Amino acid sequence: MILSHIVAVSENEVIGKDNELLWHYSEDLNYFKKRTTGKIMIMGRKTFDSLKKPLPKRFHIVISRQNIDSPHDNVKYVNSLSEAYQLADKMTLSEQWPEEVMIVGGGQIYKESLKDTDFLYITRIPGEYNGDTFYSLKIPTQFKIAFSQFSSEVPGLRYEIWSKERTDD
Ligand SMILES: NC(=O)c1ccc[n+]([C@@H]2O[C@H](COP(=O)([O-])OP(=O)(O)OC[C@H]3O[C@@H](n4cnc5c(N)ncnc54)[C@H](OP(=O)(O)O)[C@@H]3O)[C@@H](O)[C@H]2O)c1
Repeated sequence: MILSHIVAVSENEVIGKDNELLWHYSEDLNYFKKRTTGKIMIMGRKTFDSLKKPLPKRFHIVISRQNIDSPHDNVKYVNSLSEAYQLADKMTLSEQWPEEVMIVGGGQIYKESLKDTDFLYITRIPGEYNGDTFYSLKIPTQFKIAFSQFSSEVPGLRYEIWSKERTDD
């Protein structure tokens, strides 16, 4: 299993406010769609609530301390990050889901899972926002930039991919 963060973050490290996003760039939403469709996504309960309904063609593993049953076939609640990893690992091995599992937020889950990730897909949103949820742009030194490209549509918006350097092989 490969674990990747995908996040859109402003220049002052804001990712959301009042359980919502603060910007709307359809190009970035399409990028998110392209990068997550067909895959397993891991997310915190608040981020799942902010979606309003499950996203098509993706499996949602939702982390909560509450015991919640979902009526949706493509949504499963678990009680911890390690339980989320165990389920995702099992699914990627036995149910023909792709090896790359996308961690899609929010602030709490990004923070708790950063040490476990292999890739970071970061959309740099131009400007500063007044928010209540953050993603640190002090990228740990084990990560190296593998891709960086400005949007052709939105001035200043940039897509970055960071890859963790492997030390175990
Ligand atoms: N810009 C972006 O790319 C992006 C992406 C995703 C989300 N967001 C934004 O981020 C905000 C939401 O982030 P958030 O930090 O408030 O919440 P979150 O990380 O989405 O979810 C937090 C919830 O996850 C559960 N949780 C967290 N750690 C846990 C653990 N170790 N064990 C068990 N359960 C755990 C708890 O659920 P319970 O309370 O149910 O126990 C907790 O309240 C929203 O504003 C959203 O729009 C932005």
